[in-house]
Amino acid sequence: MATLAPEGPITLLSDKKDRPQPATIDGQELLREITFGGITSLILRAVVVLGVPEILARQGPGASLSAAQIAARLPNCAHPNVGALDCILKYMARRNVFQLIGSDEEPQYGLNDVSRWLVGNVGNVSPILLLHTHEVHMAAWNHLHEAVLENCVAFGRLTGKPVFEYAREHPDYSRTINDFMMCYSKGMMAVVLEHYKGFDDLKSIVDVGGNVGTALSEILRVYPHLKAIKFDQPHVVANAPRISGGSM
Ligand SMILES: C[S@@+](CC[C@H](N)C(=O)[O-])C[C@H]1O[C@@H](n2cnc3c(N)ncnc32)[C@H](O)[C@@H]1O
Repeated sequence: MATLAPEGPITLLSDKKDRPQPATIDGQELLREITFGGITSLILRAVVVLGVPEILARQGPGASLSAAQIAARLPNCAHPNVGALDCILKYMARRNVFQLIGSDEEPQYGLNDVSRWLVGNVGNVSPILLLHTHEVHMAAWNHLHEAVLENCVAFGRLTGKPVFEYAREHPDYSRTINDFMMCYSKGMMAVVLEHYKGFDDLKSIVDVGGNVGTALSEILRVYPHLKAIKFDQPHVVANAPRISGGSM
């Protein structure tokens, strides 16, 4: 892909007094960090899709396993590439996502305060990672410059549809969005409910675009007297869990 060059010749500043401050190595390092950021999140995605945090959590608190031991526990995988898994885990351990135990030659991996947020039902942020690294999202980011040049939305430029219309036709993507919303809304509503007291005097509440009802069920937990109405697309409501507490 060609990059867009600025108009006119580029002037090289040779006169010392006109020259900007020399670029420091810190600036170059920052650009490298930004460049590799996208790759790092995809490596973390591989870790989550393989189920590594859950495999480690099942061993019990403080447990650690080698890459070979983790590979032997991967479901439906007769011939895992242990070397590739070890590279992935070592990289993530260097980014402080796992605890590295033992030597570089015989490393073992365990959960730490970072990777514990990738297991269980409370505060697990995997759904946020899985939506933002979903292949259709990653592909859409590649059209961001077209959003500027053509005054369009990058996701629509790629798929020909707005996000929620695309989701209607792609059940797997729709599930990824709904899992994300459940995770995101729960965290956000905890903060809203701590500070916002506007629900006190209401009798009923409607969430227009209520997704699977996460925000509503959090509100009903604190305000069970409310009659709550969830409004969303038929395919979303059809797969939504029943909300307990309050009157729906
Ligand atoms: C960002 S989510 C809302 C999350 C929800 N309010 C919560 O806090 O958990 C937006 C929702 O709007 C829904 N939506 C989009 N277009 C819609 C339409 N035309 N009719 C009904 N719902 C729609 C989507 O299906 C999606 O679930």
